[in-house]
Amino acid sequence: MHTRPKDDPLPYYEQPSPGSGTLPARAWYAASDAARLSLNGTWDFRLSPTAEGADTGFTAEDADLTAGDWHTVTVPGHWVLQGHGAPAYTNVSYPFPVDPPRAPTENPTGDHRHVFDLPADWPAGGDTVLRFDGVESCARVWLNGRELGTFQGSRLPHEFAVGHLQRPRGNVLAVRVHQWSAGSYLEDQDMWWLPGIFRDVTLLHRPEQAPTDFFTHAGYDHTTGEGILRVECDRAGTVTVPELGIEVPTGEEVRVPVQPWSAEHPRLYAGELTTAGERIPLRLGFRTVGVRDGLFKANGRRILFRGVNRHEFHPETGRAVDEATMRADIELMKRHNINAVRTSHYPPHPAFLDLCDELGLWVIDEADLETHGFCYFPDWRGNPVADERWTPALIDRARRMVERDKNHPSVVIWSLGNECGAGQGLSAMAAWIRERDPSRPLHYENDSTYRDSDFFSRMYASHEEVERIGQRAEEPLADPELEAHRASLPFLLCEYAHAMGNGPGGLSEYQRLFETYERCQGGFVWEWIDHGLPKRTADGRPYYAYGGDFGEDVHDGNFVCDGLLFPDRTPSPGLIEYKKVIEPVRITGDSAAGTITVSNGHDFLGLAHLSFAWRYEVEGELIASGWLTVPELAPGASVDVPLPAAPDTAAAGEGFWTVTAVLSADTAWAPAGHEVAWGQFPDAARPRTTPSAGASAVVARREGTTVALGPAVFDAASGELRSLSGLTLHQGPRLDTWRAPTDNDEGMEWVDQTRLAKRWRDLGLDRMRHRVDAVELAGDGTFTVRTRVAPAAAEVGLATVYRWSAGENGELRLDVEVTPQGEWQVPLPRLGLRLGLPAGLGLARWYGGGPGEAYPDTRAAARIGRWEATVDALHTPYVRPQENGARADVRWAELRALPGTGSGAAGLRLTAGGQPLYFTARRWSTQELDTATHAPDLTPGGTVWVHLDAGQHGIGSQSCGPGPLPRYHLTPEPTAFSVVLGALDEG
Ligand code: GAL
Repeated sequence: MHTRPKDDPLPYYEQPSPGSGTLPARAWYAASDAARLSLNGTWDFRLSPTAEGADTGFTAEDADLTAGDWHTVTVPGHWVLQGHGAPAYTNVSYPFPVDPPRAPTENPTGDHRHVFDLPADWPAGGDTVLRFDGVESCARVWLNGRELGTFQGSRLPHEFAVGHLQRPRGNVLAVRVHQWSAGSYLEDQDMWWLPGIFRDVTLLHRPEQAPTDFFTHAGYDHTTGEGILRVECDRAGTVTVPELGIEVPTGEEVRVPVQPWSAEHPRLYAGELTTAGERIPLRLGFRTVGVRDGLFKANGRRILFRGVNRHEFHPETGRAVDEATMRADIELMKRHNINAVRTSHYPPHPAFLDLCDELGLWVIDEADLETHGFCYFPDWRGNPVADERWTPALIDRARRMVERDKNHPSVVIWSLGNECGAGQGLSAMAAWIRERDPSRPLHYENDSTYRDSDFFSRMYASHEEVERIGQRAEEPLADPELEAHRASLPFLLCEYAHAMGNGPGGLSEYQRLFETYERCQGGFVWEWIDHGLPKRTADGRPYYAYGGDFGEDVHDGNFVCDGLLFPDRTPSPGLIEYKKVIEPVRITGDSAAGTITVSNGHDFLGLAHLSFAWRYEVEGELIASGWLTVPELAPGASVDVPLPAAPDTAAAGEGFWTVTAVLSADTAWAPAGHEVAWGQFPDAARPRTTPSAGASAVVARREGTTVALGPAVFDAASGELRSLSGLTLHQGPRLDTWRAPTDNDEGMEWVDQTRLAKRWRDLGLDRMRHRVDAVELAGDGTFTVRTRVAPAAAEVGLATVYRWSAGENGELRLDVEVTPQGEWQVPLPRLGLRLGLPAGLGLARWYGGGPGEAYPDTRAAARIGRWEATVDALHTPYVRPQENGARADVRWAELRALPGTGSGAAGLRLTAGGQPLYFTARRWSTQELDTATHAPDLTPGGTVWVHLDAGQHGIGSQSCGPGPLPRYHLTPEPTAFSVVLGALDEG
C-alpha cells in the first residue's frame, strides 16, 4: 500500500498545472518532407484500479510483461471500449467526489507499452519529437526507460523531444494513463467518460533548420479583391504559391488578387513553406473575419450560421474517430445544408479541421474546458476558472488550441470553453488569445456579462427571447459599461433545438427570426450525433446503450442520445427537417399567377451551381416534369420565374407543383443531382375534394348481438366495429389520446418543473376509460355510438360520438365528434382513432405528407406525394423508444399484405373524410412503446396498430429548452373529423 505523508506535494495527476517536460505548443500539419512514423497499432496494456496500485517496472527496457496481467489494446482507442472496465456517462455531475484538485482513489490506470523500430531510412541528425494528439485524462511517459514528463489536457496535443533517446531498433515507449486527474475538473463535458490514448501517437523527425512553428496570415480585402498573405516562421524561408505567382520570404506581406475562401466556396490555394530544413505544404484560404458594426462578417458580409454542435463520436470507438468518419460527417452536414460547426466542447482531431478547410464549414473552435459540475455549489464555489491556481492550466489549454489550429481558414471564432460560469481564468485565456491572434473574434456563453466575448450568445433561448434580442429589446444588464458592451455584440444561439429523441420542434420559427433580425446570426443545433454505445441482450439482440447501462451509480440516462444522427450515422427525421428549414434557396409558388419566386439565401454564392426542375402531380401521380430557367441571382435577391401552363390531364383530383433546386455538377461533398432545396404548392385550379357525409346508403340493422351496416359488422353492445368486408379487426376504431411521451414531452426538471408527460400521467391520459352511453340505429340508416372517454379519478372527460354510415360503393364512413367536458388544464398528447389490424398487413401506402415522420412543429420537410413503406420501416428507431413515425397531412392510407408473405389478408384503405389526418402504423401498442426503454423491448405482436389523428401535440425542445409554441398545443376543444374505410382486394 502506497502511503503519502500528510504534507507531501500532490502527485502530478492531482496538480492543477499543465504538466512537465513537454515542448511548446505549435501548429499541427498533416504532412511535410520530414520523416514521420505512426506509432498507432496494437500496444501492450495493463489496467490497475488505482493510480499507484501497480509499479512502474513496465517502463524499463527489459521489463518482463509475462509477469503481470497484460493484454493488448488498439491505440488510438479507449480501454473501456476494448473490454477493460466500463464507460460511464454524466451530463453535469462529476462522477467522483468534488474536492479539487484531488482525484478519487478509485482511479483506473492504464499502463501502455509499445516497442518499435525506426524505419531503415530514418534520417540521421536533427531531432525527433514524440507527439500525442489526445490522451484522456493524464499521462506519464517514458522512452527507453527514461521519463519524459507528464501532461493533462485530454483533447490537445502534447509533444516531447526524444532524439537523444531514440535508437534504430527496439525503442520501448511506456505510457501510464490515469482516468482521473486534476484535469478532470476542467473536462466535465456532457459525454461519456472515456479514458485512453484515443488519438494518434506519432514520431516526427525534426531536421536541422526545420521550423518549430509557423503562422499563416491569409486575409482578404473585399474592397479590392486582394488576398493578403504573410507567413511568420521562426526559421527564415520562402513562401511560394505557384498559382498566384507568389514567391516571398517568410515574414513579408504580399497582396495579389484572389478568390476568397468561404464555407460556400472553400477556395484553397496550394503553397509551400520552404526552409533549409523542411518543405511544408500550405493550404491557403484567404478570408477576413471579425465583428464590425455589431455584426459578425466574413469578407465584408454578414453571414448566417446554419450550424451544429459536433462531439467526436463513433459507436464502436468512442472519441477515437477515423478520418473516413470525419469526412462522412462533413459530407452529411454539407448535404443537409449545414454550413457551420461548433467543436463542442474541445478541439477536434486536427484532421477534421483540414477537412473543414477543404469541404467548407465555418468553425467555432472550442477550448477543452468545462467545469459545469460546480454549478451545484453556492456561487459555483471551488470553480477552477475563478481560482488562480488553475490559471496556468487554463492558459495552457487556450494556447495548445490556438497554436495547433491557427492556420486553418475554416476556424473563424475561438471559444473559451463551455459552461464554466465566470471567473478571471477565462479573462486570462481571452487576453492570451487576443494577444496571440487578434484576427479572430472570441466566443464564450456562460458569463452573462459577456466581458470576454465578442458575441452575445445564449443556449436554448425561447423564440420570444430571441425575437426580443433581435429587436434589441433585451433586459439590460445592471452595469452600464457591460450593458454597452453586450448591446454592441452580434447574437448567436451557440446551442438550440435540443435534438433528443423525436424532434426538435420549432426550427422553422427560429429560422424566421434569424432571417428577420440582422443581429441574430443563426445558431448551432444541439447536437450532431447520438452517443449510443452498442450492446447486446443476453440472447444476442443488438441495441444502443446509454447512461446507466454500464452499472454507473451516478448517470444521466439517455440524455447522451440527443443528436441529429442515430449512433450508426443514419440521419434522424430531425436532420431532414433541419435541412429543409435552413435551405439556402427558398422556392415559393403561386399557381394562379403561374410563377414561382426564388430567393437566394446564400451568403456569397449565386445560383449558377444549381439547376431547377419542376414536377406536376395529380393525386400524387406524376403528370409532367421539366426544367426551369432561373437567372443568376445575387445573394439576398429574389426573382419571379414563370411556370409552364398546368399540363392537360384526364386525371382527376388534387394537383401539386413541386420545384426542386439540385446541384448541376458534382461537388466534393455530393454528386450532381443532389437536392439542395425545394418548394411545393397546390394548383389552385385543382383543389382537394373530400367524400361528403350524408345519409347512409343502406340501413343499419340489428342482428342478434351484432349490428350490420353494409359491409360492416359491429358489436351491438359496445358499438365497436368487428369486421369489414370479411376483414376481422383486432380492435375497431376508437378514440385515443395517448402517445408514448417523447423525450421532449418528458422534459427535464431543471427546464420545467411542471413536466408535461408527468402531468399527463398524473391525470391518467395513459389509462383512459371508455363508457358507452348509447348505441342508436337512427332513422336515416346511420349507426351512432355515444361514449364518454375519461380517466379514472378525474372529472374531465371527452364526450365522443361515433356516427357510422355506409356509402354507395361499399365504403363505410365514420364521423367522430369530440366535446371536452370539465376544466382541462393540460393539452392532449394526441386526438384521433386507433384500430388494430391483422399482423399480415405489413405494407403501407399513403397519399399525403412524406416520406418521413412529421408533427405539428416538425413538418417542414414533409411533402405531399404517394409513399410506400413497410410497417416496420415506418418506425423511427429513437434510441429510447418513444412516440414516432406519424405521417402528416395524409389524405388516404392503405395497409396491405406484404407481397410474397402469403398472408392472404385482405387490405384496408382509410381515407380522411374531411381534414387530412396524421397516420401511424406500428407492430406494438402505444402502451408497449411507452414502457420500452431500449430497442429490444419492442417485439412485434400479432396486431398492426393504426392511428389516425386529427391532432398531435407539438414536439418542441423541452428535453432542454422551450416546449412547443402555443400555436402547436393540442388544446382540448370541440373537434370533428371523419374517416372512410374501404376493404381492398388482395394483392
Ligand atoms: C448544454 C451543454 C451541452 C449539453 C446540452 C444538453 O447546456 O452545453 O454540452 O449538455 O446542454 O444536451
